[in-house]
Amino acid sequence: MDQLHYESVTGPDIAKLIPQLGQLRIRVFYDFPYLYEGSQEYEENYLQVYTKNPLSIAFGVFDGEQLVGAATGMPLIAESKEIQQPFLDSRMNIGEIFYFGESILLDTYRGRGIGHLFFDVREKYALENGFTTTAFCSVIRPEDHTLRPAAYRPNDGFWTKRGYKKQDYSCRMAWLDRNETQETEKELIFWTKEWK
Ligand SMILES: CC(C)(COP(=O)(O)OP(=O)(O)OC[C@H]1O[C@@H](n2cnc3c(N)ncnc32)[C@H](O)[C@@H]1OP(=O)(O)O)[C@@H](O)C(=O)NCCC(=O)NCCS
Repeated sequence: MDQLHYESVTGPDIAKLIPQLGQLRIRVFYDFPYLYEGSQEYEENYLQVYTKNPLSIAFGVFDGEQLVGAATGMPLIAESKEIQQPFLDSRMNIGEIFYFGESILLDTYRGRGIGHLFFDVREKYALENGFTTTAFCSVIRPEDHTLRPAAYRPNDGFWTKRGYKKQDYSCRMAWLDRNETQETEKELIFWTKEWK
């Protein structure tokens, strides 16, 4: 743990992080509320999107050589249509929005401020690059979901404290849950913070 160091990479330089970032996503998103049964091949294709926009950022936390945490973001304008559409429907200027992707940290490294650092780094970067709103989404699961751990703690309080507002617009994304045999669609709700 004493060996932690941090690295920010942007645009095409994100490529070098992709194999480890894919592994970390599969590991962290396996847990509730994501329950994601991922494959490394899919991850490595999907994550290429970050290398294609010069303003994308990936912030990595390393313990020695191992990537133990990461936070990503990119201009909303470079995101998929399904993510952009709810913002367009809400008459927002998507050119001004910097969109956060994953915030993922292995559980043994949690509770010591790295989650705050993930926001600090990306918010500073977004503002320096002229964006006026930061945003992200979070999956909605039923309160009584069978795989919800008794000790599960939602991040809503954390995000609210950081000044983010849960919006009334959402998107749907499909993936394979680890207890299912076919992909199903989930609803993901958006959170935004306006800096103007
Ligand atoms: C979200 C995540 C990155 C936060 O990382 P973290 O390093 O534990 O976060 P921090 O230590 O900076 O704590 C952030 C806030 O979470 C809350 N928190 C952290 N640990 C907590 C605990 N053990 N009990 C209660 N609240 C806790 C606190 O509100 C804290 O803010 P505060 O210290 O100002 O009160 C991490 O929990 C994670 O990877 N979760 C799984 C993936 C995920 O759900 N990501 C978000 C969507 S992509």
